[in-house]
Amino acid sequence: MVNLRELAQQFEERFRNAPRIFRAPGRVNLIGEHTDYNEGFVMPAAVEFSSLVAIAPRKDRKLLIQSNQFPGDLEFDVDRLPAQRTGTWRDYVLGVALALRQHGSDLQGANLLVHGNVPIGSGLSSSASIEVASALAFISLDSKRFSLPEIAKLCRQAENEYVGARVGIMDQFVSCMGKAGHALLLDCRSLEFQFAHIPAGIELVVCNTMVKHDLATGAYNQRRAECEEGVRFFAKADPGIRALRDVSSEMLERIGGDLSLTIRKRCTHVIRENQRTLDAARALGDGDLARMGKLMRESHESLRDLYEVSCRELDAMVAAAEGLPGFIGGRMTGGGFGGCTVNLVREENAADFSSQIAQRYCQATGITPQIYPCHADNGAQELSLS
Ligand code: GLA
Repeated sequence: MVNLRELAQQFEERFRNAPRIFRAPGRVNLIGEHTDYNEGFVMPAAVEFSSLVAIAPRKDRKLLIQSNQFPGDLEFDVDRLPAQRTGTWRDYVLGVALALRQHGSDLQGANLLVHGNVPIGSGLSSSASIEVASALAFISLDSKRFSLPEIAKLCRQAENEYVGARVGIMDQFVSCMGKAGHALLLDCRSLEFQFAHIPAGIELVVCNTMVKHDLATGAYNQRRAECEEGVRFFAKADPGIRALRDVSSEMLERIGGDLSLTIRKRCTHVIRENQRTLDAARALGDGDLARMGKLMRESHESLRDLYEVSCRELDAMVAAAEGLPGFIGGRMTGGGFGGCTVNLVREENAADFSSQIAQRYCQATGITPQIYPCHADNGAQELSLS
């Protein structure tokens, strides 16, 4: 956790005024992968890793952005923010500022200091956490109020339109709405949600493979296009179908044979993953951890074989967990092609699990992983300095 006092002090030294500080967490997704942009179900949890944004108003119309992690002081005229992305972290902050303005916010001149400890590029949503913390910070200077779900939508819009990644709503939503000790079952069509209590005595052990494959963004957008092709096919049979969310297993069985093999595989993953996610929420609610573990394993196999977004290192990390004491179930988490796995582990075994999985993974791949024992945490909030 970042030291709040230190951040406030650094801010005052740099900008000579006292800030308000906003925090937004990263996330792990327990199950429901590549379902959000198919208007389906997801079950993520916010984690302790987070981004902090300290902010104070300026008298002029300048926006000054600095970060402890990233070099360079950025200075903009708040009335002439650059319309073009740069492919760097500043896009997350500026994209949110522009989206806020589009939704009626009256942006003020301000000093911002951004600080985060979400491992970057590891599939734990460092970008969503910067977006959401920046949104809360900007809004604090504004007369217009936004609800947290509205903020989540606005941040996703920033990422889709300004950053240029066609992500779904999952990461921004759970960063806004997460709750300590709980995962969140979200219907990505209606944005209705309910909390799923994670039974006491269970830790979420997140294991970073330390690989990030370059093809991730292109392949993500390609998967989206493949799903859209699936929707067009099923909509010919039933015009009521707007998203893969609307296709039943029965319909897939009945007419899916006419799809090309690749599109059929993608659709099969999404349709079954939606059902697994609903089943997983029920299993957690019933305290049926064995079932939850089984669903997580099935999800990983489906992402590996049908959706084809796993990679050698993720598979090695998933395999390394099997048979370790206290292990309930695990899978890759996030978009894939590298990044992390999430594992449900009994608390009393979590320390041994962490060291043993690291050893096994290193033996299998030659890479030293990072292991993060986590608990589900609260969503975005203002932090109190007193
Ligand atoms: C990324 C995106 C999410 C979601 C996942 C896959 O994390 O940001 O919106 O699509 O991939 O489930």
